[in-house]
Amino acid sequence: MRLIPSSFLSILAVLPSLCQANTVTGGLVGVVLAWNVASNAAIAAASTTSDETVAKATNTNDNDNEDEDDNDENDEEYESKIQQALQYFKSKSSQLLKQALQEGGGSIGETSILEIAPNGDIVSSTDVEEELRQTEFALTAMKQELQRLQNRLKLDEYENDDDDEDDDEEEEEEEEEDSDDDEDGDDYDYGDNFPPENYRLSPEDIDAQLQNDPELKAILDSITDPKVRNEKYGDIKSEADMAVKMDIDKWHTFKYWEMHAYFSCARQFAASRPVYDTDMWNEVRQLWHDFANEDKLDNFKPGMKERTYQFSTDSFDPPMEPFHAGEKGRGLRAARDIAKGELVFKATNNTVIFTHGHTWRKFLFHIYERHGEDGPFDGGTTCDVLLWSWVQRIEKDGPLVIVADFDNGSLLNEGRDEPGWDKPNVRCGKEGDEMCMMEYYATDDIKTGEEILCDYRGFALLGAWRNMGV
Ligand SMILES: *[C@@H]1O[C@H](CO)[C@@H](O)[C@H](O)[C@H]1NC(C)=O
Ligand SMILES: *[C@@H]1O[C@H](CO)[C@@H](O)[C@H](O)[C@H]1NC(C)=O
Repeated sequence: MRLIPSSFLSILAVLPSLCQANTVTGGLVGVVLAWNVASNAAIAAASTTSDETVAKATNTNDNDNEDEDDNDENDEEYESKIQQALQYFKSKSSQLLKQALQEGGGSIGETSILEIAPNGDIVSSTDVEEELRQTEFALTAMKQELQRLQNRLKLDEYENDDDDEDDDEEEEEEEEEDSDDDEDGDDYDYGDNFPPENYRLSPEDIDAQLQNDPELKAILDSITDPKVRNEKYGDIKSEADMAVKMDIDKWHTFKYWEMHAYFSCARQFAASRPVYDTDMWNEVRQLWHDFANEDKLDNFKPGMKERTYQFSTDSFDPPMEPFHAGEKGRGLRAARDIAKGELVFKATNNTVIFTHGHTWRKFLFHIYERHGEDGPFDGGTTCDVLLWSWVQRIEKDGPLVIVADFDNGSLLNEGRDEPGWDKPNVRCGKEGDEMCMMEYYATDDIKTGEEILCDYRGFALLGAWRNMGV
């Protein structure tokens, strides 16, 4: 028996997809780190944990820029975050940790190769390659466990907003529920194990349905490049396949991409979506006001903060106008010459905040089912709002929130200072600002008619939907 060498840590640390450092700090849910970091706990367990590394991890600043191939410092930060995740896991439930590891280790042979030693270390009895293989299984298993836990915690937090006292009891229940889930299928996975009787349409039916959609046919026919056409059809088809397998009774568990599929957003965006005029914006705002009033009545206790609210009472007339920006769809262009450093856009009373992922999810369904549960459904507006929403912090070290603009500001397209992208010409925050305070400034002189582009990664946490529970 020996410990897994900690060199695995550095192998993993350079895998870009595992290296997003979008973690949350503070709060019960905050301790549950982004799954891609935390799921490495199985490996991290191999090196001994100390209070010091945990303390360090807690003090580490978030690195929202997702620099992937950085240096030792990042490795260290990464490692300490893993340690923190592991500590959390161990403190919450050694059973959970064990289950994840057994699931991983048990998949190959009869005997579990990864084991938990009495001191809490994870040990292995096999050679290095075998360990790496095992660890990959363990990672997957751990990921699933963590996702469930995180999901539960989000729902619990949502339901008991101001009462954190009996967390431990709740945690116990979670474990039991989790084992139940395993028996009757995975609650959060609409994959292959979904009971066949719930399939409403066969894949052939879906094909037939899509072939009989004259609007879609026209869209596809207008694409001259067969590769692009096939890709587009493939995206729409795979979303349709996923959507029929989804159980609407479990709508409250739908994740970002599940909702994207359920509302047929790939299909919606295949068509050219309209540039909203004043009436259309007013309609969306009214839908939001109706929803916000309804949500206030729902499970709302005195003293509780609203779960969705307008960012400010300000108004702002930006020097930009919407247009159809070719392949990018809708976009914004300068309505006049704009000087470098000028304020071009800021959050206003049209900017709304959602403090809980589930409230945002409810709002999407509120739009989708605006004409009632039997339809007709408004997938177009729903997908627009889904697309226009992002996750960020609006206070330093504050919680993550979901933000959306119900005005032309939503049409701002993304630019990056990278090959294959158009260069950005506005950024959130002035040069030197540490935080994006929802004000956008020109980084260059911009001529009338030029498209306005912003690198979202400067403020939006593109991988943080999971941290919001969606
Ligand atoms: C937003 O764009 C519409 C055109 O689609 C325009 O009529 C309206 O004035 C614009 N609103 C603002 C605040 O710029
Ligand atoms: C913000 O104020 C403008 C002007 O009063 C109004 O037309 C708009 O509907 C408001 N936005 C929201 C979301 O209520």
